[in-house]
Amino acid sequence: MAILFNQNTKVFTLQTKNSAYQMKMIDYGVLIHLYYGKRLEDCDLSYLIQRSDRGFCGNPYEMQHDRTFSLDYFPQEYSCFGIGDYRSDAVRVINGDGSNAVDYRFSSYRIEPGKYRLEGMPSMYGEEGETLVITMKDQSTGMELELYYGVFEQDDVITRAARIVNGTGDKVYVDRAMSLCLDFMRADLDWIHFYGKHAMEREFERSPLQHGRQAIGSVRGASSHQHNPFVILCGKETGEDWGECWGISLVYSGGFYAEAEVDQFNQTRLIMGISPDNFLWQLEPGEAFQTPECLMIYTDKGLTQLSHQYHRAVFNHIIRGKWKEEPRPVLINNWEATYFQFTGDKLLSIAREAKELGIDMLVLDDGWFGKRNSDNSGLGDWQVNEKKLGGSLRELAEKINGMGLKFGLWFEPEMISEDSILYAKHPDWAIRIPGRPANIGRSQLVLDFSREEVVDGIQEMVFSVLDEANIEYVKWDFNRSITNLYSSALPPERQGEVAHRYVLGLYRFLENFVNRYPNILLEGCSGGGGRFDLGMLYYSPQIWCSDDTDAVERLKIQYGTSFGYPISAVGSHVSACPNHQTFRKTPFETRATVAMAGSFGYELDLNALTPEEKEAVKRQVKEYKAHYQLIQRGDYYRLTSPYGKCRAAAWSFVSPDRRECLFCAVITQLQANPDGVIVKLKGLNPQGRYRLEGTEEIYSGSALMYGGVLLPIPREEYESYRYYFKEEEQPEA
Ligand code: GLA
Repeated sequence: MAILFNQNTKVFTLQTKNSAYQMKMIDYGVLIHLYYGKRLEDCDLSYLIQRSDRGFCGNPYEMQHDRTFSLDYFPQEYSCFGIGDYRSDAVRVINGDGSNAVDYRFSSYRIEPGKYRLEGMPSMYGEEGETLVITMKDQSTGMELELYYGVFEQDDVITRAARIVNGTGDKVYVDRAMSLCLDFMRADLDWIHFYGKHAMEREFERSPLQHGRQAIGSVRGASSHQHNPFVILCGKETGEDWGECWGISLVYSGGFYAEAEVDQFNQTRLIMGISPDNFLWQLEPGEAFQTPECLMIYTDKGLTQLSHQYHRAVFNHIIRGKWKEEPRPVLINNWEATYFQFTGDKLLSIAREAKELGIDMLVLDDGWFGKRNSDNSGLGDWQVNEKKLGGSLRELAEKINGMGLKFGLWFEPEMISEDSILYAKHPDWAIRIPGRPANIGRSQLVLDFSREEVVDGIQEMVFSVLDEANIEYVKWDFNRSITNLYSSALPPERQGEVAHRYVLGLYRFLENFVNRYPNILLEGCSGGGGRFDLGMLYYSPQIWCSDDTDAVERLKIQYGTSFGYPISAVGSHVSACPNHQTFRKTPFETRATVAMAGSFGYELDLNALTPEEKEAVKRQVKEYKAHYQLIQRGDYYRLTSPYGKCRAAAWSFVSPDRRECLFCAVITQLQANPDGVIVKLKGLNPQGRYRLEGTEEIYSGSALMYGGVLLPIPREEYESYRYYFKEEEQPEA
């Protein structure tokens, strides 16, 4: 049993292999949080809470003249607004009488085998999980709350979600409903989060928590390029290889909010959930609001271990379908090769070359439909432009399949251009505020996916294209943020529901998609990695990581991404030089070194390559395929930080049995009369004898880990190295 309830102490302890989580029902049913950390046995940590009279703190009425029961000091399991806890609140409502307070007290609990699932929203799956549901009630109003906990003991994962039920006789509004509130009885923590912008996502930032509130989030209708719904709290001393850390991610693709507060008593609270901006949810009596899920992982073994556990948890319990296990095809995407200027013949010429070079699939990107010859027009008209393709989509796909290649296609289903036929027919399908000019982004409007008929209408068009030809891959794009949020289908008092209803509409479409086309490999995208989150990964096992294909900038983007997301999730391509985003020149081999740390492909005109480059592509594809399991399923080690002083960015993949290691490094700075760059490997068997592929050189695991690898003196800028080490069979004793 991973979930314990001690009847005497009224303590709940959730145990995983290496972690534990504890909360306790105290006087009058107040549910306090006691612990999340290294595994401990059934015990009662409430002795750590010091009761004393704390001025200007709210006390529950029942305590009368006992002033030591301070709600503003006790760590709370799910903090309520308006009753004496002045710290960040997890839940806030507008009651029938206009007041905001809600005071949830314990009423019952149940423990169930299997992990709970969320209706209409992505959530972690897995038979081996267990569920705890705690039900709480506000005695004054009748408002109810269900706190959901999922425990995956072996994978060291605890999930949380909340459900708010209107048990009153009045209409109530939910003003804020976080998925999680997590209190710590300490303030000496850093927080790590991942900020960015279009074409520079998931930049790593670590800073000490300060007194007061610090927050990240998105009000863009998508999880966003600017902040990722994943944070890490960690001790000051925590590094890659040691120290306590807590990873918390939201399984959600819409606007989100994460706030950390250090309070007057040097305690820390983290809340995370749907963005409370743009949110006000009306509940009629008996109705309920379900929050999305949060995933939490704790380790005392440092950030590398945290990432390994995240990679495993996401792979085992989020990624679904055929392409979870099946080797993903190496693809060639025509976007940076042609942009909108292509013909059927041009695509076929790229496909022909791709086949020669060992590539598996051609992906036809934007511009194949309606009058879409630039990014100003045509979205919403998902009819094939046969004139441009020189025939039907089926014919094109057949020709490509005939060459022995798979065929994939780009869509941007959530968008509409004002010059489209669809817009002429359904102008009200676009999100905009009546009487106000719409703000546009990339010259386009967003469709109102909070409306069922809009989702159904687009779905029908998309599905009929997919039914027309043998399409084995789809790239699902989303190329602007939402503005002018409003739905013409909802009354004024429900406009605060549009943002979340939009996400639910998107999830419904995606669920229909994966059910109807279980063989199609879906790749998520939002101008690169603007919706790189666990919600999308539940449907699309890989996501185009960034529109920035510059190998050197990708070092940081992919470094940041690796903290919370598996390598197999990272769509990554070799592109042309000078790079189209930065104009930087990097060696062809370096672009492959970087792109191979993900789901690999090319995005350039293969016909324009030199004979030497074509030979290189052949070798690279072969090498990637040879190491596919190692890269996609091995343990990923960040060996140096691209933000650090080391003149090389280095990482490695180590097989679970520790017998294989692929070491990769890119020189990021040249130096005259250079000092040696030594990188220490990790995760090997110290006693093992590893041969460096292509040589007779043999090194012990301990030499490679404790001594390290000496990089050659680079002969050009951004040179890179890939060394494959394999452990020799041990001679029979
Ligand atoms: C987005 C994507 C690109 C490409 C273009 C097409 O920017 O991230 O990869 O598909 O759209 O318009």
